[in-house]
Amino acid sequence: MSKITAAITAVGGYLPDFVLSNKVLETMVDTNDEWITTRTGIKERRILKEEGKGSSFLAIKAAENLIEKSGINPEDIDLVIVATATPDMKAASTAAYTATQIGAVNAFSYDLEAACSSFLFGMSTASAYIESGRYKKILLIGADKNSSFINYKDRATCIIFGDGAGAVLFEPNEEGLGLQDELLRSNGEGREFLRAQRGGSSYPINADTFAEGSHYVFQDGKTVFKNAVFNMADVAERILKRNNLTNDDVQWLAAHQANKRIIDATANRINLEDEKVMMNIQKYGNTTSATLPLLLWDYEKQLKKGDTIIFAAFGGGFTWGSIYFKWAYNS
Ligand SMILES: CC(C)(COP(=O)(O)OP(=O)(O)OC[C@H]1O[C@@H](n2cnc3c(N)ncnc32)[C@H](O)[C@@H]1OP(=O)(O)O)[C@@H](O)C(=O)NCCC(=O)NCCS
Repeated sequence: MSKITAAITAVGGYLPDFVLSNKVLETMVDTNDEWITTRTGIKERRILKEEGKGSSFLAIKAAENLIEKSGINPEDIDLVIVATATPDMKAASTAAYTATQIGAVNAFSYDLEAACSSFLFGMSTASAYIESGRYKKILLIGADKNSSFINYKDRATCIIFGDGAGAVLFEPNEEGLGLQDELLRSNGEGREFLRAQRGGSSYPINADTFAEGSHYVFQDGKTVFKNAVFNMADVAERILKRNNLTNDDVQWLAAHQANKRIIDATANRINLEDEKVMMNIQKYGNTTSATLPLLLWDYEKQLKKGDTIIFAAFGGGFTWGSIYFKWAYNS
């Protein structure tokens, strides 16, 4: 019997309607469209405005889009993983609520958090379950409502982040398609450079600290930038080498969308032409756990069965990694 591999067999996505353009940001903080475009590649991002709606709202919409497109019965789903850095609430699983709302009544579910690497690490988790033979249908959703912890007076962060969600279905494959290899890493010394310090268990928010705003995301952009460029390019290059792949063997790079210059640097390191580099940062900004599935959602029609995709991500923690993947269907 051939070895079971874990393939993606369907994709869905969702973006909230409200568009926050660079022009509007110019009226909110001391910045300008030209600076944001040349330094990051971002023109606009989407924001979920409605009161009381969190990341589960985005996740449910993306999952419903996948279910509608693929025609799967949600009752057949075994596991729902929601990769997110912005869960709806503490102590209550966002994935459990999402699974119930989409009718995945026979599934178990949990959240997975590794900042901007959450979805990439989730691909590893979902694939391992499929390869084990224990589960047949795993819904992996990347969903983040970043606007919930961004300070719209801090120009170092508010220009970058947006809200959105993407979903993929993992199923067993007997043609050897799907996840081929992975190289995943973390280094906890990075957490001082990108974090929302208050609101977790170390430093709960209280009335005295609220005003200082340390519950919002802070980043030392330059340090994060340097680490992202070095580490994402490094793992992408290493995964190609150890699988004896040249740039001609690779059809696509799907890299975390945090800054166009970081994506370009990764593509340059592995000598990939621009046409092979998936890019949607200009429309959505950095949607954290949603960037990779939203790339697949946007590019799905161009992907061919057997295409090699190199995934790469970098995020807070620090966390980072790369996955060598073979696409399993024509749409
Ligand atoms: C945030 C980031 C875009 C800043 O770009 P940068 O080229 O490093 O810019 P710097 O922070 O060095 O700032 C350069 C100048 O622009 C200014 N500046 C910073 N943000 C600005 C903004 N939004 N608009 C206008 N000017 C700005 C700075 O004050 C600085 O001015 P100075 O030279 O007079 O001191 C960039 O560092 C970055 O993308 N970092 C990684 C972010 C990331 O990937 N985060 C998520 C990881 S998953």
